[in-house]
Amino acid sequence: MHFPHRHLLQIEGLHPPEISALLDLAESYVLLNRSGKTQRDLLRGRTLINMFFEDSTRTRTSFELAGKRLGADVLNMAVSTSSVNKGETLLDTAATLNAMQCDLLVVRHDQSGAPHLLAQKVDAAVINAGDGTHEHPTQALLDALTIRRRRGRLEGLVVAICGDVLHSRVARSNIHLLLAMGSRVRVVGPPTLIPAEAAALGVEVFHDMRDGLKDADIVMMLRLQQERMRRGLVPSSREYFRFYGLDFEKLSLAKPDALVMHPGPMNRGVEIDSAVADDPVRSVIKEQVEMGVAVRMAVLDTLSRKTRRND
Ligand code: ASP
Ligand code: CP
Repeated sequence: MHFPHRHLLQIEGLHPPEISALLDLAESYVLLNRSGKTQRDLLRGRTLINMFFEDSTRTRTSFELAGKRLGADVLNMAVSTSSVNKGETLLDTAATLNAMQCDLLVVRHDQSGAPHLLAQKVDAAVINAGDGTHEHPTQALLDALTIRRRRGRLEGLVVAICGDVLHSRVARSNIHLLLAMGSRVRVVGPPTLIPAEAAALGVEVFHDMRDGLKDADIVMMLRLQQERMRRGLVPSSREYFRFYGLDFEKLSLAKPDALVMHPGPMNRGVEIDSAVADDPVRSVIKEQVEMGVAVRMAVLDTLSRKTRRND
C-alpha cells in the first residue's frame, strides 16, 4: 500500500495516490463492517490512546470503535480529570503516555499545530483528530469516501462548502483533499466568515447562496463555530438561517440529485433545516458517520504498519 508517512497530521501535501490508497482500504472496511465480520488480530497487542482536549462525539467514539474492531487496546484519556488540571503541559502529558509504550496517539486540541508538535516528540504514530482551525484530516477522508461511494468519483464534481468556513478545520481539510482529487470547490458564506486567503487556495468564493449552490453536485453545510468567535460575526441565528441556512428552497438551486452533507454536530434551524437534514434521499449525514469508522480503521491499520514492533 502506498502511504509513506508515519503520522496523519494534515491532508495538505498528501498526493492523490496516497489519498486513494486510504480510501480504497477504507472501502474494504465498510464491506467488512457491514458483513459483521471482524479482524481482531490485526492490531492485537497494540495500544491506542485517545487524547481529546476538545469536546467530541463522533470522532472520539469512532476511533475507539475502529481500534477495538481491529483488536487494539484502546484507552480514552479523560482530559478533564487528568493532571493537565495540575499544570502538566501537553508535551509532558504526551511523553508520559509515550513511556507506557503507546503505539497510536489520537489527538484533538484547540491549538492549531498541537499534533505536529507531539509528532516530533513521541515514538507513537500521531493522528490529528482536529487541531484548532487548521485541519481535521480523517473528516475529509470520510467525506470523500461518502461522495465517492455515492457518485463513483471525486473528479469534476462541484462541491459547495457553505457557512462558517473561517473557523472550520473541516473546510480546510476538505478543500485540500477535493482540489487534489480534481473536484471544483466553492466556498459560500458571509464575507465575515470566509477566510481572506480562500481564493488563493484555488476555490471559488460566493457570498450569496443562490449563486454558490447553482448546479452544485454536493452541498456541504458547516456549523457556526461560536466557540472560536471572539466577536459577533453574524447578526442573529434567525437572520443567518434566512440568508445562509439550507432549506429545500435553496437546495432546489443545486443539481436535482445533489447530496447534502454535514460533519456534525448540527445546529438545526441555524445552518440547516431539520427537514433537509433528515431527508432520506438527499441527506447522507448518517452515512458520513458510518464511513467515519471505516476510514479510521484504514488509518489505524496503515499507520500501525510502520510501527508494528514484530514486523
Ligand atoms: N466536529 C467538527 C470539528 O470538530 C465540526 C464542528 O465541530 O462543527 O471540527
Ligand atoms: N465531525 C466531528 O468531528 O464530530 P465530533 O466533534 O462530534 O467529533
